[in-house]
Amino acid sequence: MSRLVFATSNAHKTEEVAAILGEEWQVEDLRAHPGVILDEETGDTFEANAIIKAVSGSRGVPGLLVLADDSGLEVDALDGAPGVRSARYAGETANAADNRAKLKTELAKLPQDIRFSGRFQCCMVLARDGEVLHVTSGSVEGRLLTEEVGAGGFGYDALFIPNGFTETFGVLPAETKNQLSHRARALAAMKEQLASLA
Ligand code: IMP
Repeated sequence: MSRLVFATSNAHKTEEVAAILGEEWQVEDLRAHPGVILDEETGDTFEANAIIKAVSGSRGVPGLLVLADDSGLEVDALDGAPGVRSARYAGETANAADNRAKLKTELAKLPQDIRFSGRFQCCMVLARDGEVLHVTSGSVEGRLLTEEVGAGGFGYDALFIPNGFTETFGVLPAETKNQLSHRARALAAMKEQLASLA
């Protein structure tokens, strides 16, 4: 089993990554490395922020492979918002429920006869000792609801129906989300690189 430090404190994301990578990888996140402090996400793209997390995180755990993701939701009718600000959409100290409430408020201001198309985006960066080894990305297209459906998942999952499905990520089983999500796709593109370093 090879070790991989996932530079996040978001247990939901870690669960997804561990499930997607399977038993060959022991995935540890920052809860297991409380001394690791990530630099502030000052970038204005998912890639820039994922690089900041991977590089700063890997400096805190010398010799170990570090994976970081930066992800978020883009809604076309909101000109791509919340985008890179997805985690802080309702303010710097906002939680996921606050962010969903803000999104519902913004969608409610728009004409309700349009289909609110959008996508989750994810950029993944693999690094070691402060050096970027590989960068991948993935996305999943879908549409937004104006009311939450389902209690599964996290973040904006209860408001998002992926194309080809009739249920939100808050209702669909985790196994389904982990086959088609932005994170799954970015990670699939990373697998060969990971295998060569295992
Ligand atoms: P990050 O931790 O800076 O990458 O912030 C990502 C934010 O985007 C999260 O806090 C969620 O609000 C949202 N997000 C990213 N991936 C997902 C997902 O798979 N489901 C729901 N929301 C997500």
